[in-house]
Amino acid sequence: MKFFIDTANLAQIKEANELGILDGVTTNPSLMAKEGIKGHDAVMAHYKAICEMVDGDISAEVISTDFNGIVEEGKKLAAIHPNIVVKVPMIKDGVKAIKWFTDNGIRTNCTLVFSAGQAILAAKAGATYLSPFIGRIDDSNWDGVELIAQISQIYSIQGFKTQILAASIRNALHIVKCAEAGADVCTCPLDSILGLLKHPLTDIGLAKFLEDAKKTA
Ligand code: G3P
Repeated sequence: MKFFIDTANLAQIKEANELGILDGVTTNPSLMAKEGIKGHDAVMAHYKAICEMVDGDISAEVISTDFNGIVEEGKKLAAIHPNIVVKVPMIKDGVKAIKWFTDNGIRTNCTLVFSAGQAILAAKAGATYLSPFIGRIDDSNWDGVELIAQISQIYSIQGFKTQILAASIRNALHIVKCAEAGADVCTCPLDSILGLLKHPLTDIGLAKFLEDAKKTA
């Protein structure tokens, strides 16, 4: 399973990248706004900066919602760097645009996915990645991880090549459960990635080893 970080914060991207386990970055307009990135040029420059930091796929989201607008915007985003993946919302014109990008060699990440039906449609259009938002599904009292398992089974039976990119990850357990359910990628906040490190018995065991090491010094 690949690990992406889900942020536009350069310090957090750097920290995750330095761990040596980072395969890419996902962003969205909310994450860009959170970093105070304002204006078209600043947004494009920020994507470029991320591409220069991380050697992996970088999702950059369109904000147009009509076919022509999505295609024009996506072409400009894809021109920033070869690692850019154009993130397109799961709407009718989005599906049409994903098919256009597929036919024209531009990789895509279909976002805002909440059902298996949407997953089938995105795969038929040739999306490179599919982003089910598992945390938001949990928030609405459904089981986000269950959706990852269902899509994984459908893609495997049908031979779809689209990679399942579990998004809206809220904690380390989500990452473990998504790995179990067949996600190809998890995109996670830094805290959830670092959460994987934690176990009290590791801390207790290390303290004891270091204490005993003093006896052998
Ligand atoms: O990748 C999508 C993600 O950023 C959404 O996460 O926490 O806003 O539901 P969240």
